[in-house]
Amino acid sequence: MESQVPPLHTGSSVVSVQELFKETMETVPERYVRRDQEPQFLSGNGSYETPTVPIIDLGKLSSAQTGGDQELQKLHVACKDMGLFQLVNHGIGPSLLEDLKREVEEFFKLPLSEKMKFGIRSGEIEGYGNIMPSEEKLDWGDRFFMILNPVAKRRPDLFSELPLSLRNTMDSYIKETQKLGMQLLGLISKCLDIEINKMKELFEDGFQTLRMTYYPPCPQPELVIGMRPHSDASGITILHQINGVHGFQIKKDGVWAPVHFLPNAFVVNVGDVMEILSNGLYSSIEHRVTVNSTRERISIAMFFSPKLDSEIGPIQSLATNKSPALFRRIKMEKYVEDYLSQKLDGKSCLERTKLQSKKADAFQGE
Ligand code: OGA
Ligand code: NI
Repeated sequence: MESQVPPLHTGSSVVSVQELFKETMETVPERYVRRDQEPQFLSGNGSYETPTVPIIDLGKLSSAQTGGDQELQKLHVACKDMGLFQLVNHGIGPSLLEDLKREVEEFFKLPLSEKMKFGIRSGEIEGYGNIMPSEEKLDWGDRFFMILNPVAKRRPDLFSELPLSLRNTMDSYIKETQKLGMQLLGLISKCLDIEINKMKELFEDGFQTLRMTYYPPCPQPELVIGMRPHSDASGITILHQINGVHGFQIKKDGVWAPVHFLPNAFVVNVGDVMEILSNGLYSSIEHRVTVNSTRERISIAMFFSPKLDSEIGPIQSLATNKSPALFRRIKMEKYVEDYLSQKLDGKSCLERTKLQSKKADAFQGE
C-alpha cells in the first residue's frame, strides 16, 4: 500500500511547521501570528542593557585549589539573581556533542511519514508534534517530547524505535547529562546550605524528561514565536543549543531580552520546583524562543525533577519564622499534571502554588 503523507493539522494535534515551511511561503499563516507577544526591549534605548548570562566553570567548582569557593558563590548568585547560567568546562566531550548534532539534524530531516511514527497520540504527551486545541495559536517549532525516567513510564514504542545511531548517541548523552545534573544539584545543595542527602533523596532516579525542538526559519519572524513564554516545571534544566543558533530570550526586570551563549556552553536554568524547594531564594526564569528568517534552530532540553511520588515544598531549613513558607506542599506528580494540563503560560503554574497568607505577602514586600 502506498504510504500516505499525514496531514499537517489533525484535530487538536498539530504536526509540523517544518513541513509547512517547505511550501514556498511569503506570509505566515494566521494561526501562527502572535500579535499578543510582548516586544523585546529596543536596543539603543539607553535605559536598558542586555543582560549577560553568568558563566560558571564546572572544572573550577570541582577543585578547591582553583577557587572552588569563589565559583560556588558565583553559582549561588546566578541562581538567585537570574535563575540562569551558562556552564563551561562541563566535561561532556565535543565528539559526543558533534554526534548529537548530526543525529538530531538527521532525525528532523526524515520524511514526515517517518517522523509521524512517533506522532503524539490522542490523550498522550510524548512523541513528535504539538498538541494544541484547534482554535489556539501555534508556536513556530516542532517538538519531540519524551519521558526518560522512570523508565517504566516511558512510552514503549518511542525510544526503542528511534534510528539506532540516534538512540545510541542519545543514550550516551542522557547518561552524561544525568551525571551532570546530579553533580549540579549537589553543588546547589552546598549553595543553599542544605544536606546533600536531601537533594539526592528527591532527585536521584527522579522524574526526567527531554524535549528536542526544531525551529524552521520564518519569512516573517517578528510575527511569530518559536516557543511561548514559560518557566520550566523542573528542578533544573540543561539546555543545549545543538546548532549554535541564538533565539533564547529571558524576561528580566519585566522586560524581554535576547541572551547569547558561548558555543558548546550548556544553558542551565532554575525551574519552578527549585524555586519552591528554595522557598523563593532561587527563582525560575521566564523564557521564550524567537526565530529568524535564515537559519533553522535546534535545541535539546533535559529536565530534572524530583521523583513523582515525592512531596515538594520549601526545604525546612529555608522556611523559618523570618522567612515563612511561600509555597504550599504538593506532590511532584500533581505539579507535573497541572503544568502539562495547561498551555504554557509564563509562570502561572508556579503562581498557583503560592501561599496567599498575609505573612507571605509581608515577607515578599520586605
Ligand atoms: C524548553 C525550552 C528553549 C529552546 O524546551 O522548555 O525552553 O531553546 N527550550 O528551545
Ligand atoms: Ni523552557
